[in-house]
Amino acid sequence: MSRAKAVYDWFDTRLDLENGQTFLGKAFPAEDSFLLGEVALFCFLLLILSGVFLGFFFEPSTSDVEYDGSVQKFQGEEMPEAFVSVLHITYDVPFGMFIRRLHHWAAHLFVASIGLHMLRVFFTGAYRNPREPNWIVGTGLAALSMGAAYTGYALPFDEFAATATSIGYNLTISIPLLGDFLGQVVFGGEFPSSATIPRLYFLHVLVIPAAIAVGLAVHMAILIRQKHTEAPRDGDVTGGRQSVDEDDDDIIIGLPAFPNQAAVSAVVFFVTAATLSALAGLLPVHNVAEYGPNDPASTPALIMPDWFLMWVYGFLKLLPQISFNVGPAHINGEFVGGIVLPGLVFAAVAIWPFIDRTEPTHFTADPLDRAWQTGVGVAAVAFIMIASIAGMNNILADQVLGTTTNVVNPILTAALLVVPPIFGGITYLLLRDGEPTPAQESDVAADGGSVGDEPDNTEPEGDG
Ligand code: HEM
Repeated sequence: MSRAKAVYDWFDTRLDLENGQTFLGKAFPAEDSFLLGEVALFCFLLLILSGVFLGFFFEPSTSDVEYDGSVQKFQGEEMPEAFVSVLHITYDVPFGMFIRRLHHWAAHLFVASIGLHMLRVFFTGAYRNPREPNWIVGTGLAALSMGAAYTGYALPFDEFAATATSIGYNLTISIPLLGDFLGQVVFGGEFPSSATIPRLYFLHVLVIPAAIAVGLAVHMAILIRQKHTEAPRDGDVTGGRQSVDEDDDDIIIGLPAFPNQAAVSAVVFFVTAATLSALAGLLPVHNVAEYGPNDPASTPALIMPDWFLMWVYGFLKLLPQISFNVGPAHINGEFVGGIVLPGLVFAAVAIWPFIDRTEPTHFTADPLDRAWQTGVGVAAVAFIMIASIAGMNNILADQVLGTTTNVVNPILTAALLVVPPIFGGITYLLLRDGEPTPAQESDVAADGGSVGDEPDNTEPEGDG
């Protein structure tokens, strides 16, 4: 008997693992793209672990202290304590530079894997009835992950990060009626005040991670309760504990959670950790020593947010400077570009499953069979990409086209409005003829049966 089997049997005699109703007996469809959510999950875990290490050495304070460390050019200089502590972590704490880089790359992979996971769910229609609640929880998680990264960006309090973070402050105070109050709560008053770093630190290490943890618990609980979607089957499935009809949506075909899926997940974890370790070992991150401490009297030549917030920055760059009053509320371009438009994007994402309404559906769909939904997805991706390019309009103008932003901005605005519908329309026209007829669709769609109530087929048929 293998050691794994012996361990399994030990638990089985105590926890009745053989009973297919338990979590450990649940079936996981064997689809590679379903592992993207796990990559996000493991990034979150690695962020917590590396963040705990950093938390032992970081000082969330902007009071000046004398620097005494390995970076010669700052030796003996009075600088903000937060900046000094990040220099200390990077150059003097054993493994500090590695863990700081690991934390940085894990944050980027976290957001990227969430984005890809969301696209997978979108293009395969996995958000459809009855999974709308999990799509909405997921949308909240996407927003929180960006909030976590944003609040972390500011913490070293170097010249570049502090200036980039001040954009968020300006957006916050632009909110009519509530702006000043929210600026006090989130940033501790005018940016940067002595309360700014402690406030952002509190949000970064406690409030936002706790909210993500709660959101994840809900996300996983709903997933377990509803069960995973499954790719349409090629035919009836035989050979497991029971034979399953091709379109029987009461039973999931997949790997049992333990030990098979657990082994797959362990591989995903180690590949994620290894990839992040390789990135941390080889690629430097935000070079605080080069930027120097925050200096309110100067502005760096180039200010930009992280790539995943670039689309919001693009809105800000393209919108004209408007300023008017509606009753007691003052509306300006920062509010419209930085709060209203991104808010509308998130709202559109959240309500999408209620636009693409269906009967309860257990199976995923082929994006090539969903002409208008895939067209909308392609248009949305094009929209975010063009807005992100607009966020870098100065680089595009100066370094690529050798012109000014006054020339490229109208072109980018036109592209933002025209290119997404064109891309979406072409996608729709190309896929329209291949869409299944209603009769074909009923072969794979659920008939309103009880998704999630029946026992799993935990046999590893491997065709999921
Ligand atoms: C912290 C961020 C997130 C984590 C860690 C996470 C994790 C997961 C995991 C592990 C699964 C099961 C495996 C898989 O399908 O990949 C899952 C399923 C799901 N997620 Fe997420 N997710 C996150 C964010 C999101 C977002 C942003 C959305 C969409 C807006 C979303 C929507 C869904 C839906 C609808 C399912 C069920 C899919 C199905 O049954 O096929 N999730 N998530």
